[in-house]
Amino acid sequence: MNQEQTLQISNQLPLVTSPVILKKAIVYKLDSYISGRGELVLPCLPGMLDYYTNIVENLFSHLGRPMPTERQQQLRQMIEKGLAEGFNISAAAMLVIEYELVKPPKKGMACQVTIRTPTLGEQYKAWVAQRKPPLFGSHPDAKVLATVAEFGENATKILDVGGGTGRNALPLARKGHYVDVLELTPAFIEQLQTAIVTENLSMNVIEGDILDPLTRLQPAFYQLAIATEVVSHFRDVDDLRLFLAKMSDVICSGGLLLFNIFLAVDEYVPDEVVREMAQLCWSSLFTSEELTTAMEGLPLAIVSNELVIEYERQHLPETAWPPTSWFESWATGRDIFPLANGKPPLELRWILCRRM
Ligand SMILES: C[S@@+](CC[C@H](N)C(=O)[O-])C[C@H]1O[C@@H](n2cnc3c(N)ncnc32)[C@H](O)[C@@H]1O
Repeated sequence: MNQEQTLQISNQLPLVTSPVILKKAIVYKLDSYISGRGELVLPCLPGMLDYYTNIVENLFSHLGRPMPTERQQQLRQMIEKGLAEGFNISAAAMLVIEYELVKPPKKGMACQVTIRTPTLGEQYKAWVAQRKPPLFGSHPDAKVLATVAEFGENATKILDVGGGTGRNALPLARKGHYVDVLELTPAFIEQLQTAIVTENLSMNVIEGDILDPLTRLQPAFYQLAIATEVVSHFRDVDDLRLFLAKMSDVICSGGLLLFNIFLAVDEYVPDEVVREMAQLCWSSLFTSEELTTAMEGLPLAIVSNELVIEYERQHLPETAWPPTSWFESWATGRDIFPLANGKPPLELRWILCRRM
């Protein structure tokens, strides 16, 4: 069609002066100028599927792109799959939904779902970069010092599992004890190695994951093994059992194992969502029955079971309380349940065991 013919047809069309119709035409044209994109990052907690799909549907609606039912279902399936895959890899996995407004004449929202899974080492590396030291407190745990004191003045062979920045290990090595630290975060290993060389300490750092079958330690070697604020990173009873079995192997007969663990209060049974959230918040939660199951058949006997926050508040020097700005919230379960007027149904407990 040539220009003259187009003009003729155009001249035959009715004149439009209705503000409503003209506004509609403007909006249609304007949409081609509007751009919008974003990223929604959701922790991979499979139990929160309904909550998440609701957020996404509301978001898209608010951006003027409500999803048709079929599209909603497709996206829900993608989110469900992503949450399960991510959580399976790590409790720190994040589902990332990247979305972008589609330009006319097409309509709707384009989106892509991916999973980000930072390792624990990467997460702690970010702590080193962003937070002011000391990351875990400036004083060793009072319960650790009291347990070491049970061996008298003699130099004791100690294993510190997940020793971190050496809050416990360094003061113990400075007192003349022989300390091996097993640690998986490279940023902390570097700091520990620098301290060992600078201070010429009888301490050794072993790089590894205690839950890795390839991580081997000397059998029946240590008089004491400690794991402070570490079991809270474990994922399930199998992890707990593996840890306890490994400790039974490496502690010599009559030796001690000290660790802290979040235990549900007696009348409370955590559901799946709570367990998922607890893992995300580095507050992995077990019931007393699960601890008993994990210990079954192992040559370990519980010597004491005490509330960490009470013990440490009573026994640490006043100047060392609280150990960090986050400790009280974390140790009382408020990182999972930020209750203003109530007590969460879990407690961080010191468990001291004797290797029989
Ligand atoms: C909260 S920090 C506590 C550090 C130190 N125990 C303290 O109380 O100051 C937890 C530490 O455990 C380490 N960790 C966690 N899971 C571990 C595992 N499976 N094997 C070895 N280290 C682990 C982390 O890298 C981190 O250094």
